[in-house]
Amino acid sequence: MAFNHKHLIDITEYSADDIMTILETAKNFKQVNERRIKKVPTLKGFTVVNMFNEPSTRTRSSFEIAEKRLSADSLNFGGSSTATVKGESLVDTVKTLCSYKIDCIVVRDRWAGVPRKIADVSGVSVIDAGDGKHQHPTQALLDIYTIRKEKGHIGGQTITFLGDLKYGRTVHSLGYFMQQLGNKMIFASPDELKMPEEITAELRAKGADITETDDVKAALAVSDLVYVTRVQRERFPDEESYNRCKGSYIVNNELLKAAKKDITILHPLPRVDEIATEVDSYAGAAYFRQAHNGMYLRMALLGLITGRVQ
Ligand code: CP
Repeated sequence: MAFNHKHLIDITEYSADDIMTILETAKNFKQVNERRIKKVPTLKGFTVVNMFNEPSTRTRSSFEIAEKRLSADSLNFGGSSTATVKGESLVDTVKTLCSYKIDCIVVRDRWAGVPRKIADVSGVSVIDAGDGKHQHPTQALLDIYTIRKEKGHIGGQTITFLGDLKYGRTVHSLGYFMQQLGNKMIFASPDELKMPEEITAELRAKGADITETDDVKAALAVSDLVYVTRVQRERFPDEESYNRCKGSYIVNNELLKAAKKDITILHPLPRVDEIATEVDSYAGAAYFRQAHNGMYLRMALLGLITGRVQ
């Protein structure tokens, strides 16, 4: 089925067919990355602006490498070195960048809704690279890619989302895709960090099979996958509420004794202390492979969204 999206902002606009198209395209780009010469001309003559107004290691670097390998021209823009610190508005900033005839903006911002606002004023393709506590769609796509690679399939499984489900934007996006692909979900979190009620209700209204619990051992005993998230310190209203939640769950070898055999452990990273480093040598610990997969996935998405890959 033809891929027909100009933006990746609202994940509910993406169908299961769209997801499969992205995953298959990513598989092709994986082969490109296995060659000695890894560069292809797919985006030659295209200009991509990476506008990162919030820290990032994986998303930013994998987008930048993806753009280089696709032969795009990239501008890395954002943070304290721009005229926004002098008071320039987001709209004026975007209008100025677009006057240079750019083709795509990849945006990360601490405020939810910024990617949509940029799409409304820019006229170019916009990819949400994480907006506040709202969504992180490219992470969810690389998570799905990883699940298929690790498990051999992406439907009919049980996944536990463990940790900060309130502020963790990756699970907000992944929950939607997991529902669409026919998986059961268990939301395991401290009470203060529960999945926002509106997200749980929306997923259930779409037919999702969701269980909420604070019994992590029981959740892991029936799960094929566990997706762990860090307590998102930067999004708490104050240090006191963060201190109440930090360290409230840790995946270690002792906890894994209660888990289903062959459970796959995912984490969007960065990790703080919620997965003990002793777990890294467990065969099902897939979080660094997951980060690696982001590069192919973002190459595929850039190719499809610009219309350069059919
Ligand atoms: N997973 C993720 O978004 O990581 P970064 O914040 O390093 O980009």
